[in-house]
Amino acid sequence: MKKFLAICSLVTAFAFISGDLAFAGAEKDPLKARVPRADRGKAKKMKPPKELYKKSKKASDEIVAAGKKIFEGKGTCVNCHGKLGDGLGPAGKVLTPGPRNFTNCKFHKKRKDGELFWIIKNGSPGTGMVAMVPATITDDEAWKVLAYERTFCKKWRKKK
Ligand code: HEC
Repeated sequence: MKKFLAICSLVTAFAFISGDLAFAGAEKDPLKARVPRADRGKAKKMKPPKELYKKSKKASDEIVAAGKKIFEGKGTCVNCHGKLGDGLGPAGKVLTPGPRNFTNCKFHKKRKDGELFWIIKNGSPGTGMVAMVPATITDDEAWKVLAYERTFCKKWRKKK
């Protein structure tokens, strides 16, 4: 009986540890680059069309509002990333790795606009973040939704 109990607790402990590692909805290393190395240099230099904005930090209220509409509407981003951008959308909770939590300012600081655009357009290989252009949204819509996404970090658009 003692041996049986010992095995039981071992099994429980193991299930707990492995379950924790693969916890659905949990993000994986949000600060680690996602664009594959071969494309990263080019991605970092990608710029939005001039008529939209120069940098997401400086995007106008109109562009941000248009981005919100895409995020919550045709872009379907809200399903995974959540209305609050915290990565806790209903479909996101079952994914491993989980969707990015956009309220994390450290994440935004680490990424260039072009890198985020590249992922929105092409997806993050091997994850639930699939390519969104051209099936779901256009290039311009991807830049707009990116401007909105940045605002989940409250400090992003504050003028210095
Ligand atoms: C089916 C679920 C799902 C949908 C829908 C979705 N995402 Fe994601 N997204 C994810 C997951 C999962 C990750 C984390 C991928 C990883 O860890 O590499 C992610 C990561 C990201 C990232 C972070 C990339 C980085 O550099 O770390 C951005 C930006 C992003 N998504 C934007 C969007 C936008 C914009 C939309 C809507 C147009 C969208 N996502 C729709 C699941 C989704």
